[in-house]
Amino acid sequence: MGYHVRYQKKFIDCLAFEDSTTILECGSGTGEIAQFTMEQYLSEDGPNVDFYLADISATLLNSVRENLSPPKRVTPHLIQATAGNLPFADNFFDRIYALSMLWYSPNPKQSILDMLRILKPGGLMCFDVMSVLNTTGIIGNLGNKLSVAMQGGQRVTYLLPSEIKRMLRRENVAFDVTGYMPILPTTLPGIGNHLNLYNALNWLPQTENALFIEFCNKIIYCVRKNG
Ligand SMILES: C[S@@+](CC[C@H](N)C(=O)[O-])C[C@H]1O[C@@H](n2cnc3c(N)ncnc32)[C@H](O)[C@@H]1O
Repeated sequence: MGYHVRYQKKFIDCLAFEDSTTILECGSGTGEIAQFTMEQYLSEDGPNVDFYLADISATLLNSVRENLSPPKRVTPHLIQATAGNLPFADNFFDRIYALSMLWYSPNPKQSILDMLRILKPGGLMCFDVMSVLNTTGIIGNLGNKLSVAMQGGQRVTYLLPSEIKRMLRRENVAFDVTGYMPILPTTLPGIGNHLNLYNALNWLPQTENALFIEFCNKIIYCVRKNG
């Protein structure tokens, strides 16, 4: 199993779907993770599920429409929408996740608060951010700023994990944080993925130690909204 799949699995495992009937993936891309989630967690007998896939890109949603193959009890709903301005009522979803999306949002904190707004009390939400405080973050951040300045393109936001923690502490939520260590700067153009020791070692070094988390590459937040 490659690094990306192992990371995705750890991420989705946080969500303990059980009796969930309303699920949102925000920033669903090609639908690969939604398909994985449906096959791995929702294929057994259980309640009917409304599974919403929201993405800013109409093109990607079209490809989802062609390729998604949901189990019988799952009804997919494809919605073109922007994180931070999601067209759903308050307290609507049992589960929400945003995997590898928030660093593309122009305002990740607003996007997180908006997802929290539409999460039901007792519901679970999972998202990840990239920290600026490690080799991958520093190189990635500088590289992205340079390429945006030179040739335009998409801005990527690297955050301080402590900012997100502070924000969540002001909300009525409980949360766990897990950090995934950097080993080598995997964002280096061309060669980054070949240098990725996560793949070579078949190992995903992780920590829940608050000090070390600050210096991790990707940080996953698992949030439960209090009733
Ligand atoms: C790296 S892809 C991740 C896709 C999928 N979650 C995965 O892990 O395979 C990021 C996705 O977020 C979408 N996206 C970027 N900015 C967004 C925004 N502000 N609101 C909603 N979706 C956004 C992109 O169109 C893209 O499909």
